[in-house]
Amino acid sequence: MTDILLRGRTLSFRRWPEGVDDAASYSYEDDGGVLIRDGRIAAAGTYADVAGSASEGARVIDHRPHLILPGFIDAHAHFPQMQVIASYGAELLDWLNNYTFPEETRFRDAQHGRRIARLFLDEMVRHGTTTVAAYCSVHKESAEAFFAESHERNMLNIAGKVMMDRNAPEALRDTPQSGYDDTKALIAEWHGRGRQHYAITPRFAITSSPEQMEMAGALANEFPELHIQTHLSENDAEIAFTCELYPEARDYTDIYARYGLLGKRTLLGHCIHLSDREADVLSQSGSVAVFCPTSNLFLGSGLFAYQRLRAREKPLRIAAATDVGGGTNYSMLRTMDEGYKVIALQGEKLNPFQSFWQITLGNAEALSLSDRIGTLDAGTDADIVVLDSRATPAMQLRMERAESLAEELFLLQTLGDDRAVKEVYVAGRPAKSDMAIAG
Ligand code: GUN
Ligand code: ZN
Repeated sequence: MTDILLRGRTLSFRRWPEGVDDAASYSYEDDGGVLIRDGRIAAAGTYADVAGSASEGARVIDHRPHLILPGFIDAHAHFPQMQVIASYGAELLDWLNNYTFPEETRFRDAQHGRRIARLFLDEMVRHGTTTVAAYCSVHKESAEAFFAESHERNMLNIAGKVMMDRNAPEALRDTPQSGYDDTKALIAEWHGRGRQHYAITPRFAITSSPEQMEMAGALANEFPELHIQTHLSENDAEIAFTCELYPEARDYTDIYARYGLLGKRTLLGHCIHLSDREADVLSQSGSVAVFCPTSNLFLGSGLFAYQRLRAREKPLRIAAATDVGGGTNYSMLRTMDEGYKVIALQGEKLNPFQSFWQITLGNAEALSLSDRIGTLDAGTDADIVVLDSRATPAMQLRMERAESLAEELFLLQTLGDDRAVKEVYVAGRPAKSDMAIAG
């Protein structure tokens, strides 16, 4: 494959930015270059330096004056819920029962699953997201459809079929044994194939019997390198019902702890109403709390205590995510705009560098994948997004008054969406412009 040499304003984080003046937390080049070779980043830095190491005949793609960043990472989304977004007027449990569960029954049909998987990954790419941790439906076929589509695009994605054996329509229930067997078969078929990662996915404690939770724990034990994803402490009614179903547990978090489901690869959607004890347990186990602002606002679930959980004596690892279709937008820019407001309502701030850290390196670290994605570091995979801060008339006008990189990033987050995503590279291959041509 010929080298590809990108030119533009490059931005990549090294660590959490303490403040807007913390220039040591990131690398920024006004005239930067990224050299892509065999799907990986071979070099990044000033354009002059990087151009020097490109091979003869390298294809130069000039993205000036746009920003070149690592591709965005979405740490929690439900691919079967594309046609659930914008379902009116319900809190979590009614929303699941009235809209989401009926919709997910359609994924018994493998062809439907393939169509939606294709459209879902199209939306991810369109919005600049190159990695997503996705929930599939209960049907094994839905996970097969997702992985086949992801593998064909050579995307690094994480996914799993949800295990759910109670408190759901008959058509959406597996059994402890079939959930275990199907998961194991999917792991054998997909985990480690190309860039695919399997996540053990008990949907949440309400829809899994103690027997199924035990089976999920057994899988976690057999496959300690796998991610585990589930939901925790999203809504008051959910918490009360969960604690009724597991009276022996001290609290919601203790249920997952008892079945061996907490740890450094565990991704817990929401974590809004945690007690101090629960936060301590999550911190000690290294589990990740996943902040889903558009969903939490849309379903009226509550305000995630981002800064409090991050800065406590026993801090939590935090990721950010869309949670489509409880979440209302595919864009990580829109997600962090709403996230900023959720944090502001608690009298705190998240500065623009911290936001962009979160959806790139921060999420990569939360997913334990920062050796592969989340930066422009040489040796990592060439998953890249190109952002146009003047993508709309309103953005263009506001940019006339932006005087710093921090202001530009904040404007991108506040006014930007898929229109600001000029190009996306997946493992070094232009993916957004490709999609537009293919229609
Ligand atoms: N808890 C269990 N399942 C779901 C889901 O699909 N979406 C959200 N937001 N919460 C859940
Ligand atoms: Zn969710």
